[in-house]
Amino acid sequence: MKSKDNFSGSFGVVLAAVGSAIGLGNIWKFPYMTGVNGGSAFVVIYLICIAFIGVPLVLSAFIIGRNSGENPISAYKKIAPNTPWFLNGWLGTLIGFIILTFYSVVAGWAIYYAYQSAIGGLAGLAPNEVGAAFGSFSASSWKPVCCQMIFMLATGYILLKGVKDGIEKFSRLLMPLLLMLLIILDIRAVTLEGSAAGLDFLFNPDFSKLTLSAVLSALGHSFFTLSVGAGTMITYGSYIKKENHLMPIVANIAFADTLIAIMAGVAIFPAVFAFGVEPASGPGLVFVTLPNIFNMMPMGQIFSFIFFMLLSIAALTSSISMIEPSIAYLISEYKWDRKKATIIVCIAATVIGAVLSQGNGALNSFKLPFYFEGHVQKMDIFGWVITLTDQLMPICGFFIAIFVGWYMDKKLVEIEISSNGKYNVWYFSLFRFAIKYTAPVAIVLIFVTAIFGLFK
Ligand code: TRP
Repeated sequence: MKSKDNFSGSFGVVLAAVGSAIGLGNIWKFPYMTGVNGGSAFVVIYLICIAFIGVPLVLSAFIIGRNSGENPISAYKKIAPNTPWFLNGWLGTLIGFIILTFYSVVAGWAIYYAYQSAIGGLAGLAPNEVGAAFGSFSASSWKPVCCQMIFMLATGYILLKGVKDGIEKFSRLLMPLLLMLLIILDIRAVTLEGSAAGLDFLFNPDFSKLTLSAVLSALGHSFFTLSVGAGTMITYGSYIKKENHLMPIVANIAFADTLIAIMAGVAIFPAVFAFGVEPASGPGLVFVTLPNIFNMMPMGQIFSFIFFMLLSIAALTSSISMIEPSIAYLISEYKWDRKKATIIVCIAATVIGAVLSQGNGALNSFKLPFYFEGHVQKMDIFGWVITLTDQLMPICGFFIAIFVGWYMDKKLVEIEISSNGKYNVWYFSLFRFAIKYTAPVAIVLIFVTAIFGLFK
């Protein structure tokens, strides 16, 4: 496959996979989900899902990808010819595309906030004004769409120009910088007056507040943040060299990803309480808390600009990974050239995303139904699509687990994770157990109880 040449050696692929995992999921979605779902108990469930379901699944996706050397759809066709398994490849590829539609909108918000910081548009606003500014921006019909288009142009450009020079160099610089900035933000946040309530909200588990839909959201988000339960990790797995040990790569991804999410939480929740923002205020949470912190820091606008720039770039290393599976598939199956595939997929995602973004404004009163906890709930189209993907990813992940745990030959799996006996895979039976039993059973249990509202 031509796109294999896009990475320079094994380090590049690892970097790209970490770049895929770290993104808006960590800094935007994790805090707002935590806020909506009542705090610390959600965080505990999320961490359990990462360790016992997410990690084995990323490893499984890498196994499928590297063993076949193919995009998700062709990967299933190759390992399981003449079976319907390829449908799960389709599902994963589709999920990546759907996620991109709303992801690009939120990335557009980050770009807008970088711009606003640069021109000083947020400087000196009182906390309630910061909230109001976000409300009127996200509800505007054209501003979010323009910013989303800028983001999609950047995504398309990188996908066309090759991943190697752009993303790799960016990522190398970006990750440490993002980490440093988060450390600074964390220090500022925990030294705010009234910050203790935020840390308590985040770290002191109160399971009485936990709802079934919160558990399902934690499961869905653990998939989202690891980019698993979609086509991404299978595709990236296909770019990993045969001699590389998969498990340490997975462990690094999970560790870095979780670290960044928790650090974002530590930056945001103390500020939520210190500035009297509603923790459950939803997708706008990051955008109505962080500007307040920046306003209270020396050179706050510069930090703010750097932060939102970094966030946009972190989103970029994720967005390219969402559509790479679609593009890889169109190239290998329909012999489209990379340019045609990239342009068509990007335009489609932009148009759909632009419509979805109106769910925060013009189309806010238009609601779609969702069946949850035994009854129908209504959501605007923007929130609806986010919820939809949070539920589709565990389904796709369930079948990944069944495929690697029950369908694939055990020997083949062992050869793949030990790189043909090169590494000591002492964890093999643990992994087998997780992927055969723990992950599928947990997914089904969480799903069924949350959807039908059992055990309430
Ligand atoms: N993990 C990314 C984040 O946290 C988002 C992401 C990238 C993703 N590729 C994906 C989510 C594929 C699901 C599927 O921002």
